[in-house]
Amino acid sequence: MLEHFNFSNKVVIVTGGATGIGAACAEMFAQLGAKLVIASRNMERLSAKAAFIKQQYNTDCLPLECDVRDEAAVQNMVAQTLQHYGRIDVLVNNAGGTHMRPIESIDAARWHRSFAINVDAAFYCTQAVGKFFRQQGGGSIVNISSMAGEKGTLNGAAYSSAKAALQMFTRVCAAEWGPLGIRINCVAPGMILSDIAKEHLTASGIDIEAGIKSFPLQRAGTPEDVAQAVIFLASSAASYITGETICINGGPQLGGNRKES
Ligand SMILES: NC(=O)c1ccc[n+]([C@@H]2O[C@H](COP(=O)([O-])OP(=O)(O)OC[C@H]3O[C@@H](n4cnc5c(N)ncnc54)[C@H](OP(=O)(O)O)[C@@H]3O)[C@@H](O)[C@H]2O)c1
Repeated sequence: MLEHFNFSNKVVIVTGGATGIGAACAEMFAQLGAKLVIASRNMERLSAKAAFIKQQYNTDCLPLECDVRDEAAVQNMVAQTLQHYGRIDVLVNNAGGTHMRPIESIDAARWHRSFAINVDAAFYCTQAVGKFFRQQGGGSIVNISSMAGEKGTLNGAAYSSAKAALQMFTRVCAAEWGPLGIRINCVAPGMILSDIAKEHLTASGIDIEAGIKSFPLQRAGTPEDVAQAVIFLASSAASYITGETICINGGPQLGGNRKES
C-alpha cells in the first residue's frame, strides 16, 4: 500500500507552489520523493521556497516564473520543465484568486479576471501538460476548486462561478482523456487557514471562531489537509478515480443545529 505514495522519480508541477495550499502540496510531494516545479509570478518567493524544499527534502525543485493567465508563458513553463526533467507525471492547478463583491458592483473586467486566474489558467496548463501526457501514455491532474464553486457564496458570483466551471472542466477532461490513461480530479476546500485566507477573513470582519463552531469537525482546515487529498488523488492509490471533486471542509453541509446539541 505504501508504494502507492512513493513519488520517487516522478515529476510534479504545482502552480502557485510557493505559498499556502500550493506550498503544502509541493512540500508533501517532495517528502514522498518527487521532483518539483513550482510556478507563479513572484520569483523571490519561488526561489526561497525551492531552496527550502531542496535542503529540507533532498530533492530537486525548479522555481519557474510564470503568469499562468498567459498561454505562451504556460507553454514555456512546460517546455522548461521537460527540458530540465524530461518528463511530467502530475500537474496541480492550484494558482487562483478571490475578489468578493456584490453582483451589482462586479464590472466586466473583474468578472474576466476571476475566470482568467481560476479557469483559463487551468485550461492552458492542462492543454500544455496534457499534450505531453497523451504522448507519454498517462498522467494525473488535480485541480483546486473551492466550496464556493460547490455551494456558492454570498458576494462571490465571479469566484463561485469560475470555481464551478473548473469542476465541470475536470469532469469533461476526465471523460475525454480517460481512455488515454490520464486521470483528472478536483478538490473543493472550505475554510483553509492559509496566510492569505487569514488576511482576507480578518479584513472582511469574519469571526473565524464562530464559523468553526458550526462545523462538525470543530476546526478550520490547514493547507496540509488539502495537500493530503491532492496527494491521494494524484497517487496510484486513486487509480480508479477520475472526474471527481472531493470536498475538504470539516463537514458543514451535514446540517444539524450545533447550538442545541
Ligand atoms: N484558503 C482557502 O480557504 C481556500 C478555499 C478554497 C479554495 N482555495 C483555493 O486554493 C488555492 C490556493 O489558495 P491559498 O489559500 O493557498 O492562497 P495563496 O497562498 O494566495 O495561493 C495562490 C497562489 O497562486 C499564485 N498565483 C496567483 N495569481 C497567479 C498568476 N496569475 N500566475 C501564477 N500564479 C499565480 C500566487 O502566487 P503569486 O502571487 O506569486 O503569483 C499564490 O502562490 C486557490 O486556487 C484558491 O482559490 C483556497
